[in-house]
Amino acid sequence: MAVRVDLNISLYGFAPTTDQTPENPFGEDWSRLVGAYAATRTFRERVFHDTSGEGTTGVDDEYAKAYFAELGAEIMGAGMFGLHNFPDDPDWRGWWGEEPPFRIPVFVLTHRARPSIEMAGGTTFHFLSATPREALDRALEAAAGKDVRVGGGATVVRDFLKAGLVDHLHVAIAPILLGRGIRLWDDLRGLESGYDVTAETAESGAIHLTFRR
Ligand SMILES: NC(=O)c1ccc[n+]([C@@H]2O[C@H](COP(=O)([O-])OP(=O)(O)OC[C@H]3O[C@@H](n4cnc5c(N)ncnc54)[C@H](OP(=O)(O)O)[C@@H]3O)[C@@H](O)[C@H]2O)c1
Repeated sequence: MAVRVDLNISLYGFAPTTDQTPENPFGEDWSRLVGAYAATRTFRERVFHDTSGEGTTGVDDEYAKAYFAELGAEIMGAGMFGLHNFPDDPDWRGWWGEEPPFRIPVFVLTHRARPSIEMAGGTTFHFLSATPREALDRALEAAAGKDVRVGGGATVVRDFLKAGLVDHLHVAIAPILLGRGIRLWDDLRGLESGYDVTAETAESGAIHLTFRR
């Protein structure tokens, strides 16, 4: 039972993009940052519900498959759920449509209390204000022996890394320069000690860097 992180980052470690507008809520940088991942067959099936069988099947797809395997619960921040973009909408149900790809309990860290939301396909969003340790204990209980992922964004992942709670950190480094955003690596000097680090380069040019305890 491991605590996992999987993130897409740019060459300088920027994770979230910051060019969103109401007309383009993901921003143009999003497709540059996660383009290789979103092109995989697994992502297309799982997130876009595209059953045509299209999509890449190389190294990026192997990581995409691993991304969804053996998870029992997920933790994410209010930013990743989209609450910061729709703070005044009590009916906001997240970015992922009526059938989100998670299919497990998802614990959304936020200082604004909301009732839980049950979605189609097995995803339930629970909202809580808690320390990383407390949130992880809730998620581990819900995961019933499977892994827990801290899904993002960078702010929440950094908090869990600083607290020493992550066993398996996988970052797909896209060969692009964003030049803005929130940098995953800030305030994490020496993070690599205590982990075995491996790297693999995909056909897309993305470098998959994995830190395993
Ligand atoms: N590149 C990738 O792989 C990837 C993956 C996931 C997400 N993202 C992107 O990341 C962006 C969001 O990242 P972000 O760093 O801005 O935000 P975030 O990490 O998703 O959320 C941070 C927010 O969560 C709440 N929060 C954090 N810790 C808390 C705690 N202990 N208790 C209660 N509330 C807590 C706070 O919001 P409040 O105080 O307002 O409630 C805080 O401002 C999105 O644009 C998303 O698309 C990228």
